[in-house]
Amino acid sequence: MITGIIIIGLYFMMMPDNNSTQNRVDLVNAQTSPAVVSLYQNNCASCHGKNLQGQVGWQNQLDEDGHRLAPPLNGTAHTWHHSPEYLYRVIKYGFTSFDPNYEGKMLGNSGLSDEEVWELVSYMKEVWPNEIKEVYENRFGS
Ligand code: HEC
Repeated sequence: MITGIIIIGLYFMMMPDNNSTQNRVDLVNAQTSPAVVSLYQNNCASCHGKNLQGQVGWQNQLDEDGHRLAPPLNGTAHTWHHSPEYLYRVIKYGFTSFDPNYEGKMLGNSGLSDEEVWELVSYMKEVWPNEIKEVYENRFGS
């Protein structure tokens, strides 16, 4: 019963507001350094979308290999519930660093320097809506 309530709660918490937020992030107008934008475009956009919007159907569909689709990183999904250290680890070492049997698509980017990975973490935060950024900073202090 309690598990059911938590699952329903999570579902609503993770539900993006497709109509208003899907294209809210406009990279052209975002205040970000060109270097991190191309870092993102070259390494992440193929799955997470050029505006960090995630793949269509990410919540309940699988790709042709039966793996989960890439979620939005733009603050409409779950990313902001994770600490900066967790995000760093996922980006650099992938989900295999938590689960050696992981067979999905987020395999990490060990070729990126630590500095580049932290820049990507800040980049994601930069495009989150202000209210989410505030909650995040209160919670994690950065
Ligand atoms: C080949 C596709 C692919 C690429 C390229 C990719 N990702 Fe992912 N990413 C995924 C998938 C799929 C997931 C969800 C993992 C799962 O559930 O199996 C994910 C999850 C994540 C998460 C966790 C999100 C959350 O809400 O918990 C972060 C953060 C992330 N990716 C950031 C990045 C960044 C930054 C890059 C570029 C350096 C990147 N990803 C490149 C497919 C990809």
